[in-house]
Amino acid sequence: MRGCHGDEPGPLPPGLVEAAKRQLDQLTFSYRFSFSNEPMADLCGLIREIAPMERASAFFNSSGSESIESAIHMAILYWRHLGKPSKIELISRFPSYHGSTLGALGLSSSRWREAFELVLEKNAVAQVPGADIRARRSDEAECRFGLEQIEDAIVSRGADHVAAVFLEPISGASAAAVVPPAGYIDGVRELCNRYGVLMICDETITGFGRTGEWWGSSHWRGKPDIVTFAKGVTSGITPFSGMIVAGNVADVFLERPEGFPWGHTFSGNPLGCAIAADAIRTIRDEDLVTRGRALGERLRAGMDAIAAPSQHIGQVRGKGLLQGMELVTDRDSLEPLAGASDRLAAFAKDRGLMIYSCPTPLGRRMIEAVLLAPPLIVDEADIDEILERLADAVRKLDACPRVETT
Ligand SMILES: Cc1ncc(COP(=O)(O)O)c(C=O)c1O
Repeated sequence: MRGCHGDEPGPLPPGLVEAAKRQLDQLTFSYRFSFSNEPMADLCGLIREIAPMERASAFFNSSGSESIESAIHMAILYWRHLGKPSKIELISRFPSYHGSTLGALGLSSSRWREAFELVLEKNAVAQVPGADIRARRSDEAECRFGLEQIEDAIVSRGADHVAAVFLEPISGASAAAVVPPAGYIDGVRELCNRYGVLMICDETITGFGRTGEWWGSSHWRGKPDIVTFAKGVTSGITPFSGMIVAGNVADVFLERPEGFPWGHTFSGNPLGCAIAADAIRTIRDEDLVTRGRALGERLRAGMDAIAAPSQHIGQVRGKGLLQGMELVTDRDSLEPLAGASDRLAAFAKDRGLMIYSCPTPLGRRMIEAVLLAPPLIVDEADIDEILERLADAVRKLDACPRVETT
């Protein structure tokens, strides 16, 4: 794997570096209110090819948070243009993370809210199904519960006031890869249709093959109206993000002379667009999505094997190369093992393995969980090495699950 065996970062994929250099020589910036640019048109074509919904249009920004803000703008303007200016409320779920700008943080339910709570919107009112493993509900019951949460949120605000439901199709940094039960995503789609509400999937983490499909939402039939993306779109080479908009929503903007005149100075900058286009071609042409799916199965099997003898792993969950583990005091109570996420991440780091610590508030509890998300270019040997180091770190956690106090 590039950059994973030694202390030095490995070389960047040569194709991507070439694409960046080519574009640096040609044009790095053009202001989108005045000009379009060729890399942007090229990227739009590629996005349309891989989009999870019909007749897709795209809009580009520089970070995941910016694209969430753009999706908020678009949802509110969409209803305004359709003569329903009272539809301005947003519903999101807990736990969740949608970004650090105030609009995106207002949609989030994560530990990052705390310092800003007084100035934030409280949009996260529906519980993520599967996020509370102590409930021990069947998949069917969990799905029903999750959908009732969304429906209650819409009905209690009044559908006339609700613009959109935001969701991460598979939880990322807040709840460590909680996968919704069968029927949930399709059920949210049906509720959004029934009540006239936009369904917006935040695929900042789950996009571009991370979960074994191009999009996390593609594991199910229900198609979002808007998808936001970031991170994997340029494989980390340059800051870039965007949103994909279904034809029926985009039409409302495309038929207006002003279009969608929002966004940011660097929206659709040609350098980012050229790099994103090359990254997407690389993922497509090297079939990294299929590869990620297969390697994800290997990773998951290994994590299940690590979890089996441990009292402190309450659940292993995830899809593809996005896998999480919830850490508990014991497997009977499934109560969170306080401080365990940070401790396990530190033990892993001591062994040269980076895993993401996700302590997350859920009602009166703080869930303890960690997330693994190796790059799509890992190979089998890398996965085995990751698992070896993880197993060692889990053994250390089992041996000393709590910080010693004297
Ligand atoms: C699901 C999700 N949405 C939005 C964001 C915000 O992205 P950025 O940090 O690029 O603003 C993140 C970042 O981790 C994320 O995980």
